[in-house]
Amino acid sequence: MPKIRLEPVRGMRDIIPEESTEILWLERKFAEVAELYGYEPVIAPTVELFSLFEVKSGPEIRRSMYVFQDKAGRTVCLRPELTASMARIYLRRLQTLPKPVKIFYVGSAFRYEEPQRGRYREFIQAGVEYLGEEGVAADIELLLLIRDYLREIRFVDYSIKLGHMGLFRDLFSMWGIPEDVQDEIIHYIDKKELERATTLLSEYPKAKPEVINELSKCKGSDPQKLTSCAESAGLPEEVMKHVELLAHVTKVTQALGIPEVYADLGFARGLAYYTGLIFEIVPKKALSLSVGGGGRYDTLVSLYGGPATPATGFALGIDRIHLTLKESGWSLPERKIKVMLVSLESDIYGYVDRVATALRSAGVVVNVFPRPKLSSALRVASEKGYDYAVIIGRKEVEGGYVTLKDLRERKQKIVTVEELRKEVVKAE
Ligand code: HAM
Repeated sequence: MPKIRLEPVRGMRDIIPEESTEILWLERKFAEVAELYGYEPVIAPTVELFSLFEVKSGPEIRRSMYVFQDKAGRTVCLRPELTASMARIYLRRLQTLPKPVKIFYVGSAFRYEEPQRGRYREFIQAGVEYLGEEGVAADIELLLLIRDYLREIRFVDYSIKLGHMGLFRDLFSMWGIPEDVQDEIIHYIDKKELERATTLLSEYPKAKPEVINELSKCKGSDPQKLTSCAESAGLPEEVMKHVELLAHVTKVTQALGIPEVYADLGFARGLAYYTGLIFEIVPKKALSLSVGGGGRYDTLVSLYGGPATPATGFALGIDRIHLTLKESGWSLPERKIKVMLVSLESDIYGYVDRVATALRSAGVVVNVFPRPKLSSALRVASEKGYDYAVIIGRKEVEGGYVTLKDLRERKQKIVTVEELRKEVVKAE
């Protein structure tokens, strides 16, 4: 038999404890916070028709997609993100629900990018989509949800960068630039390749590339300064409303306790479906890559053949959040008490189950050792950092008690099944 390679495919990762435990916790917390804001979960397929993403992913994501033919000859892809699937599912299954429709998801996405620290070919996104609402209150709610989630998981030291795709789209349309070229220019602006963007722009006689150059210098959190910077950059009157909206959101969100919000008029996001307010969450230390991003996409649903449906949303990169946290010395804020249960007899399942259930129902991890081997069980328990061992033999069953061994304090005592729960839980 040929030798089987054990390493995962390049760009893919095997995630094992403790990392996997931490990542699963980060995912669960996201679901909890999203539910507290009234979002409901949607589970989307990992494989979609390529055509779903072909239209509005933007040049970069389109180029990095895993695309293949299935056995029936359909051109399918592994989803590079989940918003397009959510818009499709909304259109097919959710659009008759009372609006707004608020959904969330946690799942893998795939991009064939050059692997590096914080950039993988399979990664986890946790996101929400807020469909059927055009008011800015929806966008602000997204930022509040992010604030609460990051606070909950103890992710501190980040800033939120705001921008507005309407600035670019309106200017480019006024300058007579076709939509596919607009997408390409936006891709360059997103990649901070301003020169390539302005070169492309200068091919259009009505375009004023210098406005784009000047806009990229306008950033900050002072609404007045932002507006005057945009004016001196030569932004036409018709487009100033987007800057005013940005100034408004900056002011409101700062007052709502979001650590550092600022607007950057030269900031664009590469996904081609964005139409309005956009944002990114940038950690201040460690990773300079953004840990999340989102924005308004008011035309995607209609592009898929549905009615005009304003929408906004975001996705956080759970792997990048985890990496950033770990680099700042983070460990799981909530830890479960762990008990190794050792049964010294093989025919006392009922009693063992009663004890285990009593503890598990109080949120205690109970790992039942599979063999009546006390010394092996204790060795495994201490190697794995367990808090207690509960030992049950014939004597214990007959007396209605257990032997409780505190593995940290190295003390042992006898307690009844009723006392056991209190004894173990109070210890934290
Ligand atoms: P995105 O900015 O392409 O937006 O991805 C969101 C987040 O996914 C990024 O901020 C990053 O943390 C994470 N991410 C992206 N690529 C990788 C990678 N190769 N490795 C690790 N993490 C990565 C979207 O996907 C939009 N669907 C967000 C959205 C939702 N907009 C509106 N609704």
